[in-house]
Amino acid sequence: MPSAERLSAADRPIGVFDSGVGGLTVMRALMKTMPNEDIVYFGDTARVPYGNKSKATIVRFSRQIVNFLLSRSVKAIVVACNTASAYALDELRSAFDLPIEGVILPGAEAAVEATRNGRIGVIGTYATVSSQAYDRAIRALKPDLTPVKIACPLFVPLVEEGFTAGEITERVVEHYLAPLKSEAIDTLVLGCTHYPLLKSAIAAYMGAGVLCIDPAKNTAEALRARLAAARLLREEARAACYSFAVSDAEERMTAFANRIMPFSIQAAEKIAIENYEA
Ligand code: DGL
Repeated sequence: MPSAERLSAADRPIGVFDSGVGGLTVMRALMKTMPNEDIVYFGDTARVPYGNKSKATIVRFSRQIVNFLLSRSVKAIVVACNTASAYALDELRSAFDLPIEGVILPGAEAAVEATRNGRIGVIGTYATVSSQAYDRAIRALKPDLTPVKIACPLFVPLVEEGFTAGEITERVVEHYLAPLKSEAIDTLVLGCTHYPLLKSAIAAYMGAGVLCIDPAKNTAEALRARLAAARLLREEARAACYSFAVSDAEERMTAFANRIMPFSIQAAEKIAIENYEA
């Protein structure tokens, strides 16, 4: 990537962050929707999971990460983590002066658009579910809709360990999603970065009558609209540069990325994230 100071505003990279590696599912959607854009990804692998932490901690971590991404001269930021979007998005938007997109409103919009019977399910971490962020976003779009929510904490380690299919995965999926079967939902929001990697198992269990929504595509489209409005889209067709940073275990990040990304990653950089002032 050329030195950031020499780049025009539109030529600067997009920053994407997650509590760990799961946000790569959102990065994939950004790459597809905006193939000309450079992207700097940060995964907070030293402090994952966020899904069982307090709001104050999640906000502090998120502010440090935004400061790190600003040091890489990003022009916009995507909070790929549902938990951080649920707890820190408003604070980040009021503290930092650049376009910041979260995943919750785009996910809610996709679900409200998709549902035919008004019965929406949302699955996520404990923190996301108890934040009620999806309830608020869905109700803001359609006040008479209240989603049915379930926390599925074991889904994250399953994915991290590569268990995206097979008997163990099917048993865990059944364990968490059985209560949703009697709720007559027709739409299910995969409200956690890792869950799209379990989509086949989840969709197979829920059956053909339930549409699984990955908020990533709508998030990428929302960011593209935001960048276009701010004249920050990079129009010129060119090969994009992608870089990866983590707060710990960079070789695990590289291995995970090489399992799910459409290109191979040589190495991720390790960052002392707590040095970036909150
Ligand atoms: N990235 C988180 C999310 O989307 C899942 C992992 C965690 O608990 O930090 O909610």
